[in-house]
Amino acid sequence: MSAAAPDSKPPASGRTFSLRGLRRERPDQQRFEAPEVFGREAINRIARALPLFERAYAFVRFSILRPKLLSVMDLLLTDEGRILDVGCGFGLFAAYFGQTQPGRRIVGVDPDARRIGLAQKVAARLGLTQHSFHVGDVRDAHIEGPFDAAYVLDVMHHIPEDQQRAVLVHLRDLLVPGGVLLIKDITTEPASHLLFTELLDRAMVGWNEPLAYRHHRAWGEMLSELGFKVRMVRVPDVLPYPHVVIAATKL
Ligand SMILES: C[S@@+](CC[C@H](N)C(=O)[O-])C[C@H]1O[C@@H](n2cnc3c(N)ncnc32)[C@H](O)[C@@H]1O
Repeated sequence: MSAAAPDSKPPASGRTFSLRGLRRERPDQQRFEAPEVFGREAINRIARALPLFERAYAFVRFSILRPKLLSVMDLLLTDEGRILDVGCGFGLFAAYFGQTQPGRRIVGVDPDARRIGLAQKVAARLGLTQHSFHVGDVRDAHIEGPFDAAYVLDVMHHIPEDQQRAVLVHLRDLLVPGGVLLIKDITTEPASHLLFTELLDRAMVGWNEPLAYRHHRAWGEMLSELGFKVRMVRVPDVLPYPHVVIAATKL
C-alpha cells in the first residue's frame, strides 16, 4: 500500500489515501504486485533443479509453452487452493504455477513413475512442499477431490478419442462449482500446422500410440454439453503450433 503523503492528515476514519489521492485504501488491504510477466527467473530455477537431459527438455518445453502463454493461464487459474495437474510429467508447470502463486496446492498425476519422481524432486528443491505428485492414469486413478481448478496441458490428445469425454466428466466431478478446468491443446487447423505438431509428438511417443486431436469447436461443444461455461483463445506462435487455450468454468 502506498504511504500517505507527508503533509496529508489521516482521515478521521483511520483510512489512508494513495499518494495520488485518487484511490481510497484500507490499512489492511493487500499490496498489489505485478510479478515479472515473462517468468524467466521461475523457469531458470526449475531448470536448475533438473538433471542435465531433463534440463534441456525443460528449456524446449518452456520455449513451446512460453511465458506469454503461461501468463494467460496463470491469470485463469485460482491463486490459491487445490489444483489438479493432469498428466503433470516432470512437474514443470506445477513448479511454475506454484512459484508465481505460492498459495496454490498442486496435485500432479501422471502414469510415468520416473517423471513423477522428478516432479517430486523439483518441488522439494524449490521448497514447494505443499505440492504432491502421484503415479496414476487419470482414467482410473483414485484422485481425491474436490479441486478449485484443474489444468491439462497437451495431454487430452494422448487420451483415446472414445475415452476423452469420460475424462472430462471425471474432471468436472472433481471440481467445486465455479472451478475452472483449463485445457491447453492443439487444434486441427490449419492442417499443415497440425502435421508439424503431430510429427514432433510422434518423435516423442513413436508411431504406435494413438494421438487424438480435436478441433477446438468440438472441445467447446463437448464441454458445454457437460455443464461448463466455455471460453477459448487460439494463441499465435512463431512456430506453426496451432495452440488453443480453453477455460471451462463448471456451472
Ligand atoms: C506431452 S506430455 C505433457 C506433460 C506436461 N503436461 C507438460 O505440459 O509438459 C503428456 C503427458 O501426459 C501423460 N499422460 C498420458 N496419458 C495419460 C493419462 N491417461 N493420464 C494421465 N496422464 C497421462 C504422459 O505420461 C505425459 O507425461
